[in-house]
Formats: sequence, structure tokens, C-alpha cells
Amino acid sequence: PTGLIADQLGRPLHDLRISVTDRCNFRCVYCMPREVFDKDYAFLPQTALLSFEEMTRLASLFVAHGVQKIRLTGGEPLLRKHIENLIGMLSALKTPDGKDLDLTLTTNGSLLAKKAQALKDAGLKRVTVSLDALDEAIFKRMNDADFPVAEVLHGIDVAHQVGLGPIKVNMVVKRGVNDHQILPMARYFKNTPYILRFIEYMDVGASNGWKMDEVVPSSEIVQRIQAELPLQPIAANYTGETAQRWRYTDGGGEIGVISSVTQAFCHDCTRARLSTEGKLYTCLFASAGHDLRALLRSECSDAEIASVIGQLWRTRDDRYSEMRTQNTAGLTPARKKVEMSYIGG
Ligand code: GTP
Ligand code: 5AD
Ligand code: SF4
Ligand code: SF4
Repeated sequence: PTGLIADQLGRPLHDLRISVTDRCNFRCVYCMPREVFDKDYAFLPQTALLSFEEMTRLASLFVAHGVQKIRLTGGEPLLRKHIENLIGMLSALKTPDGKDLDLTLTTNGSLLAKKAQALKDAGLKRVTVSLDALDEAIFKRMNDADFPVAEVLHGIDVAHQVGLGPIKVNMVVKRGVNDHQILPMARYFKNTPYILRFIEYMDVGASNGWKMDEVVPSSEIVQRIQAELPLQPIAANYTGETAQRWRYTDGGGEIGVISSVTQAFCHDCTRARLSTEGKLYTCLFASAGHDLRALLRSECSDAEIASVIGQLWRTRDDRYSEMRTQNTAGLTPARKKVEMSYIGG
């Protein structure tokens, strides 16, 4: 029962994002605010986590259904012990027509300098690194873990040196907190091999206290950069790309903006998400996931599990961000949402 599938809105299944841990050594204000994720917060126990064998078994079934890209997320994926072993297992998977997967990982960069070589050796293709400011005080206010900028920059450079490129750098912009870092970040990453992407602060999860007036629309981000560094739009790399791409007219490279709030891109969203404990979510904003771990830990055959995955994708009709846009500014459909650290960025 495997084969290429489309959902209710005709969207194929192309990407699988696997959250490998719900823990993180940062407490970014827009993701894991310290008041909520404190010492009493109940993170998942070890037995709840999917093992690497379980993740790989599921991944192979998703690949049979058409998945071409796998991204490891979290929490902070490099906190998961021996993550390079998982990468080794996933990098052996091939698409039905015999190609390698695009195997990548999103990290906060704190452990990257130490782990980059092992990740590369295990078969990881590239990494995306989060960095919200160059100014030390502002970065520390964003990560709320007293983590210095220089170590993230060093991690990026080491990852580049070992060949984990092209590296993308993701900056979540929160008005009044780090929006004055837009230009310094653009200047710093211009004329480097790194692709800087600005992300609109989203109303994901239930704990970050999101307000519409804290979102800096991508159009404004582009305008602010344009005023000093001329830009022109360029075509997407692939259908369903999250970022809109812009290039510096002087040849200084490119940037991206991810406008999930002001210009939702649900119409060609091809992403499935697997939570740390093995639940399948067909949208970042879904209120519930489907428990695939229960199937893995039962007597179900691969064919049976593949058929469940196919059925879940075929019935998918999620388009949360577009629905949010249709409502008037800031009025989000009331629903219970899961945390991004649990479902995976
Ligand atoms: P590339 O393969 O490099 O193009 O990566 P990507 O943009 O697909 O993934 P990445 O993890 O870099 O995504 C960047 C950010 O975009 C995420 O951290 C989210 O903030 C946002 N994002 C990614 N996918 C979705 C999605 O499906 N819906 C929404 N609303 N936001 C998303
Ligand atoms: N809004 C936008 N992006 C977020 N991320 C986490 N929380 C949010 C949010 N509220 C994304 C960022 C970060 C990645 C790990 O998760 O892109 O770089
Ligand atoms: Fe950790 Fe990334 Fe969330 Fe920051 S955004 S708290 S680094 S998972
Ligand atoms: Fe996809 Fe849901 Fe994000 Fe829309 S809101 S792009 S459907 S994950």
C-alpha cells in the first residue's frame, strides 16, 4: 500500500521532520520561556522516546511514500546521545529511485564545533543554525541561558570547514527585542557562504505569550535591508520552500524571509512531523498527533504501519496559518496547540 500520495488539498508528502529530544540547553523567549520550562517542567522520560531503530523503521516507510528530505529537530537535537549513530542509519536509506536523501538538522549551534566532524562522517549533508543576534546582551536576552554569540559563530565556521554546507542561519525576529539586529546580521553574513533567513515570530505552542504587534512582517524586514543594501527577489529552489529568496544586487549573496504569519505558505506545505515520542503531526499547529509508537511496539507489520501513514496523509486538510491570516489580525482560531520543542521546529 505504499507509493506516492497526496492529501486533501493535493499536497504530496516530501519532508519528514523528526524531533529527537524535547530538551534544550537554551530557553529562547519565543520557544521555551523559562517561566514555563523551569525545573519542575515534565520532560519526556527516556522510555517514551523513540529509539534510533524505531525512528529509522518509520523513516523508511515515509521514504517509500515519497519523502525526500529528513530534518532532525528538537529541542536541541545535538543533546540526544550518540545522534551520529542515528544519522548513520538514516543516511543509508534511499528513495525508491535510488537517490540519497537530503539529510539535515536544525541546531542552536552550542555543541556544533564539537560534533560537526562526527556528524559529517556519519553522512549528514548540511545544517541550519539558529542565531537571533550578534549583540551579546541581546542574544543572551533571547536565549536566556547566558550563551555567548562567539561560540555559535565558531560552530558555524567549523561546520562549514568540515563540509556541512550550504549552511543556513535562522533568525527569529521579535519586535522590540532583536529587530534592531536585522541590519547588523545582514551586514555580517553578506559576502559569506552562509544564507541568513529572517523568520516571523509565530504563535506556535501555548506558552510564549505571542502577540501580533511583536511580529515584524517580512515586507518590513526586506524594506529595512533594501534601504541600505539593494536586493532583488529570486525564484524558489523548490515548490513549497518556506523562505522567499532575495539576492544582493552587488553579488554579495542571498537572504531569505519566512513569512509564516503575514504570507502563509500552507497551500504547498509538504511537511510531516514526528514528535519525540513517535506521534505523527500533519501540521505545526495541530492539537493532536497520531500515535505511531503504539504501532511500532505492537505486532504490526511494515505494510500495516505504511498503510496507516498513507491514510493519515490522504485525509490531511491542515492549513492553520492561512486560516489565521483570513481571521482579522491577531485573532487566531482558538485551539489547544503543542509546543514547538516537542513537535520539532
Ligand atoms: P530548507 O530545507 O533549508 O529550505 O529548510 P526549511 O526552511 O524547510 O526548514 P527550517 O527548519 O530551516 O525552517 C525554518 C523555520 O521556518 C522553522 O523553524 C519554522 O519557524 C518555520 N517553518 C518551517 N516549516 C514550517 C511549516 O510547515 N509551517 C510554518 N508555519 N512554519 C514553518
Ligand atoms: N516563531 C518562529 N520560529 C520559531 N522557532 C521556535 N519557536 C518559534 C516561534 N515562536 C524556530 C526557529 C528556531 C527553530 C529551532 O525553531 O526557527 O530557529
Ligand atoms: Fe532551544 Fe531552538 Fe527552542 Fe531556542 S528555539 S529554546 S534553541 S529548541
Ligand atoms: Fe504546513 Fe500547518 Fe505550517 Fe500551514 S501552518 S505551512 S499546514 S505546518
